[in-house]
Amino acid sequence: TTKVAVFASGSGSNFQAIQEAIENGELDAKIELVITDKPNAYVVTRAENFGVPVFAFSAKSYESKAAYEAEIVQALRNKEVEWIILAGYMRLIGNTLLSAYPNRIVNIHPSLLPSFPGKDAIGQAMEHGVKITGVTVHFVDEGMDTGPILAQAAVEVVEGNREATEERIHTVEHELYKKSLIQLLNPTSKLH
Ligand code: GAR
Repeated sequence: TTKVAVFASGSGSNFQAIQEAIENGELDAKIELVITDKPNAYVVTRAENFGVPVFAFSAKSYESKAAYEAEIVQALRNKEVEWIILAGYMRLIGNTLLSAYPNRIVNIHPSLLPSFPGKDAIGQAMEHGVKITGVTVHFVDEGMDTGPILAQAAVEVVEGNREATEERIHTVEHELYKKSLIQLLNPTSKLH
């Protein structure tokens, strides 16, 4: 059983999909910790509902990224976390975390990278008028949504309807992240 931490800044629907895949036996892993930079985010409530411990921090009470990341690394080491799963964590990962977890950090992004990196990828795609967007799961490096791609899936934009497009993207994200994590964390699993 692989010990993981999920980093999130928002609603936590991807956290929940991963936790449910673990609970129903599809993914052999344990979420030891949810890390959030938004102590009031809904992901905190979701984590509590599943009995998953939360480490919440406020970036502005630290003097640098290196300072808060050092504390995160300590919290992860205390729990023997092996992999970091970013799920709507809206901060760039710095050198402290990257060097503590080389090639052990993955992210999900709501576009077909390298299109529309950064914030509000769904809004960017709709603004641009693309007809097809999608979801990307990738390894994290020092760039913004740049590391090697693990998996992608296409999603048709619902023209003029951001909410419906977002709902489609979320549904695809939950499935794609689950499949990618099974391949990555349980490579000999016969379940996929
Ligand atoms: C997801 O759509 C994820 O792809 C996106 O944030 C959302 C979080 O939703 N991440 C990024 O934009 C990263 N650049 P959730 O909190 O319901 O899982």
